Amino acid sequence: MIDSRSYSSAVDTPPLTRDAKAELLRELADEVKHCQKCPLYKTALRGVPGEGDPDAEILLIGEAPGWHENQQGRPFVGASGQFLEQLLASIGLTRKQVFIANIVKHRPPDNRDPMPDEISACVPYLDRQIEIIDPKVIVTLGRFSMNHFFPGEKISRIHGMARRHGNRLIVPMYHPAAALHQGSLRHTVEDDFRAVPAAVAEANKLQAAAAMPPPEPPAPPADPAKQLSLF
Ligand code: URA
Repeated sequence: MIDSRSYSSAVDTPPLTRDAKAELLRELADEVKHCQKCPLYKTALRGVPGEGDPDAEILLIGEAPGWHENQQGRPFVGASGQFLEQLLASIGLTRKQVFIANIVKHRPPDNRDPMPDEISACVPYLDRQIEIIDPKVIVTLGRFSMNHFFPGEKISRIHGMARRHGNRLIVPMYHPAAALHQGSLRHTVEDDFRAVPAAVAEANKLQAAAAMPPPEPPAPPADPAKQLSLF
């Protein structure tokens, strides 16, 4: 078992290897499967922890599992998932190259919105996933995951605009399901998704700058006695 506390605060701790991340994510997935921190486990078939590359540069965060996800225990495998895969393909990626998770890990009955107490019970799992994966870019899908980072914001105002959050970038987007139900949003979501590669490039720059050693202090003025002795 890997000590998940050891990487959380120390600035000079070496980054986790992909294998270490995979093991921590497996442990977390196991906890999600047995989670009873809110009543959703009583009506859901199974928890849906999330899946993808443990070392992904991009983490996508949806709302909660729907019917298909509840059947399969995997995120975004229904109609929204198909659209999400098309969006990923439009920037040259597959779902295996990113990590896909949700704010709430058990399906709310009848696909209702997750309640605030269900979100606050579940969100520590997401926070741990972010800490383990340490993605360069987070794409929030829909207002619930957007609210986790930008409480009080309106998705209609900030969608598609990458914002800095520490040394990573967060790109808020409409939920793919919203685009499927409201045709006019489809192009908006497709356009917004094109901002993702630029956000990765920007995060790379931020992280490279953060890794640079601090500038050398200016050299002290030359010793006047030594200077005089030259003559
Ligand atoms: N919608 C979500 O928000 N998450 C899923 O996993 C599937 C549909």
